[in-house]
Amino acid sequence: MNILGIETSCDETSASVVRDGRRVLSNVVATSLKEHQKFGGIIPEIASRRQLEFINIVTKEALVTAGLTLKDIDAVAVTTHPGLIGSLLVGISFANSLSFALNKPLIKVNHIHAHLYANCLSVFQGKNNGEGVIFKESSLPAVGLVVSGGHSSLFFIKDFRNMRLIGQTRDDAAGEAYDKVARILNLGYPGGPVIDRLSKNVSDNDIHFPCAMLPGTRDFSFSGVKTAVLYYTRQHSAKPGYSVERVAHAFQESVVKVLTEKSLEVARKKKVKALLVGGGVAANSALRSSLEAEALKSGIKVYFPGMPLCMDNAAMVAGLAYHYYKT
Ligand code: KG4
Ligand code: ZN
Repeated sequence: MNILGIETSCDETSASVVRDGRRVLSNVVATSLKEHQKFGGIIPEIASRRQLEFINIVTKEALVTAGLTLKDIDAVAVTTHPGLIGSLLVGISFANSLSFALNKPLIKVNHIHAHLYANCLSVFQGKNNGEGVIFKESSLPAVGLVVSGGHSSLFFIKDFRNMRLIGQTRDDAAGEAYDKVARILNLGYPGGPVIDRLSKNVSDNDIHFPCAMLPGTRDFSFSGVKTAVLYYTRQHSAKPGYSVERVAHAFQESVVKVLTEKSLEVARKKKVKALLVGGGVAANSALRSSLEAEALKSGIKVYFPGMPLCMDNAAMVAGLAYHYYKT
């Protein structure tokens, strides 16, 4: 079964064809990121206008790359929520029209759930997901951690139709905190990749920011560490020895520690053997190594999507849609 997926929840416009919920035949992504960078964040009005311009082009390219035509498509899948309303509407209207014209089903997909499903996709001629091991549905139940620009959420995944939200951020999402801290440190937008890169230059750090563990809950909070960075920067940035790299490293250390400890604590309590991670922050090198090392001690296997599938993409939408459709 070939499903054409459409993803337009934020500033990426993506179309993908996925076969039988697993094999990625194409995954085309266009982005208006550059236009937003000068504002230091996403401007919804610009994002939705670009969605409208890109959607036809990326969809055609996704079909050509897959070596298929519209006649080969068995269903159309689209992200319906959450996201920027103007951007979402472009994808939803487009997918709706396509499904009507082709007389094929329209499958509605939750963007956050799709981020977790990215761990099940196989790209590069079906060999693997680019880096790691592909998660198999038969290994469920699992705990899922979605860390993106808009969300920091924990799920209990009984099956892919049934993901139960069991914890979330009370204020900033992890990616949002990265972006805001990067703004404080004048590092540009998005903040995650640059903070990740700069932190690698620091081995020994005497700066430590607080970690909001919120004991007894499965929730997260990242606004405190962001404020700590702001106050530290105000007090120290003009002093000799001040280093942006060390501030970035200390911030990342706090975020990674909280994400690692809290998600593994939940996985242990739920007695699952797998932790699926997804969303833009899943690309973070420190989070990857910290989770892998700590999970090993508890006999838990951590899954991360290949780098391109951590970011917003339509393959995860088409893949999850297959499970919605078949059950
Ligand atoms: O999942 P995503 O592409 O879009 C949303 O659904 O939000 O995630 C974007 C977020 C941004 O906040 C960005 O700063 C963060 O993911 N991000 C990273 C890294 N790469 C992207 N955060 C930490 N480390 C990274 N390497
Ligand atoms: Zn996302």
